Amino acid sequence: MVKLTNKRYYFDYNSSSPLAKSVIKWFTSGDFFVANPNSLHTSGKKSLKLIRETQNFLFDTFKLGSTHKVFFHSGATEGINTFIINELNQGDGEKHLILFETDHSSAYKIKNITDHYKINLHLKTLVNSDGELQTDQLISFIQTLKGKIIINFTWVNNETGIIWPLMEAVKIKQVTGAFIHVDATQSVCKIKDWNQLSPQLDAYTYSGHKFGSLTGVGFSFYKKDYPIQYLVNGAKGVLHSRPGTPNTTGIYSVYLALSETMKSYDYAESLAAINYLKDNLDQLVKPQGFVVGKNSTNRCTNTISLFLNDKKGQDLLNIFDMNGLEVGVGSACSSGVLGPNRVLIAYGVDENKSNNSIRFSFETDLDMEKAKNYFEMIKKVLMKAI
Ligand SMILES: Cc1ncc(COP(=O)(O)O)c(C=O)c1O
Repeated sequence: MVKLTNKRYYFDYNSSSPLAKSVIKWFTSGDFFVANPNSLHTSGKKSLKLIRETQNFLFDTFKLGSTHKVFFHSGATEGINTFIINELNQGDGEKHLILFETDHSSAYKIKNITDHYKINLHLKTLVNSDGELQTDQLISFIQTLKGKIIINFTWVNNETGIIWPLMEAVKIKQVTGAFIHVDATQSVCKIKDWNQLSPQLDAYTYSGHKFGSLTGVGFSFYKKDYPIQYLVNGAKGVLHSRPGTPNTTGIYSVYLALSETMKSYDYAESLAAINYLKDNLDQLVKPQGFVVGKNSTNRCTNTISLFLNDKKGQDLLNIFDMNGLEVGVGSACSSGVLGPNRVLIAYGVDENKSNNSIRFSFETDLDMEKAKNYFEMIKKVLMKAI
């Protein structure tokens, strides 16, 4: 069975995923009044219980409860900024911030405020044409630097679905001692070991709307002894966490949506399905185009970026849209703002052609039956377009 969203075929899950059924059910059951969890009355305590349940569920799921704490925020953009800006603020010695051309804008754009800090900014490419991180080169580069090193490590690339294995981040940590924040936003139920986090890494950040919870809520894990400073100031509540009234509705939707998504994710099945789509789409557009990063074995199970020599991604998106299929261009949440695509440029694509791509990002419970159906639909539109 193929899946319709708003009576359209929705292939833009990396931007935002539809609400999980369990979240919709909770809302429609009418049981979603949530009092302020900082209030000491019975309803407040009930709200607090929902947050604690979510926290415990996250510790159980990601198995970090003994080494890390978790805090809830408004989404990955806030989580990423919290850790990087914290690191820029802390300590007086020499500091180096390493960001990658392939990072999501929520990390990459921090470059624009680094003038306010006494730090050295390094914007790195360090990937091959399939988007794989050249870890040894990165380590060699870090070894030429003196002082504190701060790295944003994107586990799964939102545009291309290329994975940078977490073991590589662990290796960088072990050899260089760098502070490593993992942008784990696109990892949930899209890769084999999505919930096998290493306790050695400093922080991990997620956004709920990427797996069916409400938009405007996310969470980050950080080491228990980490002196976290939040980006916002105000009263701290009973959770001793980020100031402001906790978003209980959003937080509990993380619990519901993640439990549901995990249950329906079958890594082997989704991998076979995405490989079917990858191989057939690549074959279909040859020689006018190719699947970006097609030769990498480190690919996630829901994302395909298609490059086409002579077609602007925006034009293709419009053609797909007119045919009832919703796809993405550019980085996941900045669709609509199209400068040169720095991710594809980093992979070696010519700058003038860097916008000639579209991205299909499917539901996490992709299977072969859906993949075959989706391929036929996509093929019909592509045949008109190219
Ligand atoms: C890899 C990655 N990091 C961070 C973000 C930012 O997430 P949000 O917009 O939910 O804050 C996104 C959004 O697409 C993303 O794909």
